[in-house]
Amino acid sequence: MKSIVILISGRGSNMQALLEADLPECKIAVISNRPDAGGLAYARERGVATAVVDHRDFALRADFDAALAEAIALHQPDLVVLAGFMRVLGDAFVRRFEGRLINIHPSLLPAFPGLRTHAQALKAGVRIHGCTVHFVTPSLDSGPIVIQAAVPVHAADTEETLAARVLDQEHVIYPRALRWFLEDRLSLDGHGRVRVDGEISSDVILLAPSVQ
Ligand code: GRF
Repeated sequence: MKSIVILISGRGSNMQALLEADLPECKIAVISNRPDAGGLAYARERGVATAVVDHRDFALRADFDAALAEAIALHQPDLVVLAGFMRVLGDAFVRRFEGRLINIHPSLLPAFPGLRTHAQALKAGVRIHGCTVHFVTPSLDSGPIVIQAAVPVHAADTEETLAARVLDQEHVIYPRALRWFLEDRLSLDGHGRVRVDGEISSDVILLAPSVQ
């Protein structure tokens, strides 16, 4: 059975969507860098193993990364899933888990990497915004794209209304990406692109990939 470790920092709504999705059987553990992360309580209630590696206990980022990597390695994960994990992970960490480390980012990458993506989108005046699940590489918010969902930007949108519309789609695409992984349907083609094998349901408008 595959082993998955989900990393969170806060409310954990993406983690919750993953735990509630009817995914193929797998072992899941949740690790947070913050003891007060809201998502931890939810995971514990569901009987999911949780752990905390508090970044404030480490003066050096590299030491935090190393401790986190050790806590993750205890679970011998096939995949490490960043779900609202708000610490930048160093190159050594990323290389250790490269190819089995994925993230969800609240924009249509490569547009709007970094923070405050919804504010960035509003400022740029884009009419379409969205979210991306991607494999993590050492450069921030880049890496092979697994799945994206787009949403319209309305004239009256605020950062909050746009964030909520995007978050709804995050909760659709992240479970879908994890399902593909658990069904052994994801692979990298050697040119930095993700291949998804098998049938892909195109039930959500502007969800890509929708066809093979
Ligand atoms: C999400 O928008 C995610 O894309 C971003 O941080 C937010 C985390 O939300 N990286 P949650 O903790 O999953 O509710």
